[in-house]
Amino acid sequence: MLLHIPALFSRDEVLRIREALEQADWADGKITAGYQSAKAKHNLQLPEGHPLAKEIGVAMVERLWANPPFMSAALPHKVFPPLINCYREGGSFDFHIDNAIRQPRGSQERVRTDLSSTLFFSDPEDYDGGELVIQDTFGTRQVKFAAGDMVLYPGTSLHKVNPVTRGARYAAFFWTQSLVREDSQRTLLFEMDGAIQQLTAEVPEHPALIQLTGTYHNLLRRWAEV
Ligand code: NI
Repeated sequence: MLLHIPALFSRDEVLRIREALEQADWADGKITAGYQSAKAKHNLQLPEGHPLAKEIGVAMVERLWANPPFMSAALPHKVFPPLINCYREGGSFDFHIDNAIRQPRGSQERVRTDLSSTLFFSDPEDYDGGELVIQDTFGTRQVKFAAGDMVLYPGTSLHKVNPVTRGARYAAFFWTQSLVREDSQRTLLFEMDGAIQQLTAEVPEHPALIQLTGTYHNLLRRWAEV
């Protein structure tokens, strides 16, 4: 499943974040890449633990935990702290699949990368190229959303960032370990939850809703790992 989550950050917030990012000290993006993907990765990144990355990360995770579409689609167990990157003219990241397990710096805890997310801090008109291209069961999709918007997609996907040919593309990206490992099972639960929400709004007194909601939870109980 690929999900577009609009306006996680407001216009004012995005402008403030971008101003701070434009003045930040950037490092080579290869620092968090695996051996193979380092060869494919040509971009800049804020070092892990950079105060600005931490501040953005904390705000972002707070928003996500209060965002019903994210909660329903990701069924998050834990989130790897967001990393912030920048692609300037000539920057790109060729096709790759992300490492399965991530360990935040200075932490004992490991995160299985069931889901990947990118939150855009630049608007599509700020740069040419730079589309996030994702190949999965839904086919090939090209993503270039408004600043403040986020895309959520399976960590198992082959993906790349097209070369930026003008301007700068600022974004945050992070991984989520889900309570439900399999994308196909998460997708079923997400669709069922959507249908239950709609029925709850339109025919709140219907007795079948109790059974349907119960079945959702019984499937979640069967598939969830805590
Ligand atoms: Ni990647």
